[in-house]
Amino acid sequence: MAVKVTIVGSGNVGATCANVLATREIASEIILLDIKEGISEGKAMDIMQTAALAEFGCCVKGVTNDYAATANSNVVVITSGIPRKPGMTREELIGVNAGIVKNVVENILKHSPDAILIIVSNPMDAMCHLAVKTSGLPRNKVMGLGGALDSSRFKYYLSRALGANSKDIEATVIGGHGDTTMVPLTSLATCRGVAVTNFLTKEKLDEVVAETKVGGATLTKLLGTSAWYAPGAAAASMVESIVRNQKRIIPCAVLLEGEYGENDLTIGVPVVLGESGWEKIVDFPLNDDEKIAFKASAEATRNVNQIMIDSKMI
Ligand code: LAC
Repeated sequence: MAVKVTIVGSGNVGATCANVLATREIASEIILLDIKEGISEGKAMDIMQTAALAEFGCCVKGVTNDYAATANSNVVVITSGIPRKPGMTREELIGVNAGIVKNVVENILKHSPDAILIIVSNPMDAMCHLAVKTSGLPRNKVMGLGGALDSSRFKYYLSRALGANSKDIEATVIGGHGDTTMVPLTSLATCRGVAVTNFLTKEKLDEVVAETKVGGATLTKLLGTSAWYAPGAAAASMVESIVRNQKRIIPCAVLLEGEYGENDLTIGVPVVLGESGWEKIVDFPLNDDEKIAFKASAEATRNVNQIMIDSKMI
């Protein structure tokens, strides 16, 4: 089946996502769109020039602000907006990025009214809330990239602490996609099915949790801008589960209507991703500490949304 995926924003995250989608042939047609003249065309051509080497057959096309070229996309990944600089929080980007994301969603839906939207722009939970509230789409067609990325980082830090292969680790991060709002679920993390609490001391686990929460900030400090390989690959993994109808359980920011004890809030929880978007919220058994941390994360995320309510963005 022909699968068309559009990525809005051809910066590092968008281009990396396109590259993963192309090399793994997850989509047959990939459109990269940016407002900056030439950048999408250049990155798309660069990726296509690897086709003979990486042996893939899909088509990546770059366009400058031409939304007509995105028509009938099955999935749209929105990465537009400014990234954070060292020392900045993701929340500080809201003033600039809210207007950009709202405008992009409007333009996309004019040409792809049935698209499933994946929001990457930061502050991601708020931008995803804005998209779901202003798009008129059913809530299961809008989701934000947070948990897929943060869980992959959690697995990385766990694998280092355990001296184990990341593939043998199962671990989930829920809550907001913020340095202080992420909730890595240590009680449910396993290595080959065995709880990691059997192998790591409480002190070591606390260290892993702390590293995970600032995983993005650590990279921003090192790189001078925010990360791209893991965010791009994490977004591609969400696209893959949707377009291949894999029904994987991936934590994503979705609009809660009573689930996990929250209402009218978009925040990360485990969901099943399939061809109709996120199909089901999965109720993980959190321990008391994790429940308290999720509640605090929800309150902090709600406060960021309030900024958009006060400025009449939503
Ligand atoms: C990060 C950005 C994409 O966590 O939020 O790297």
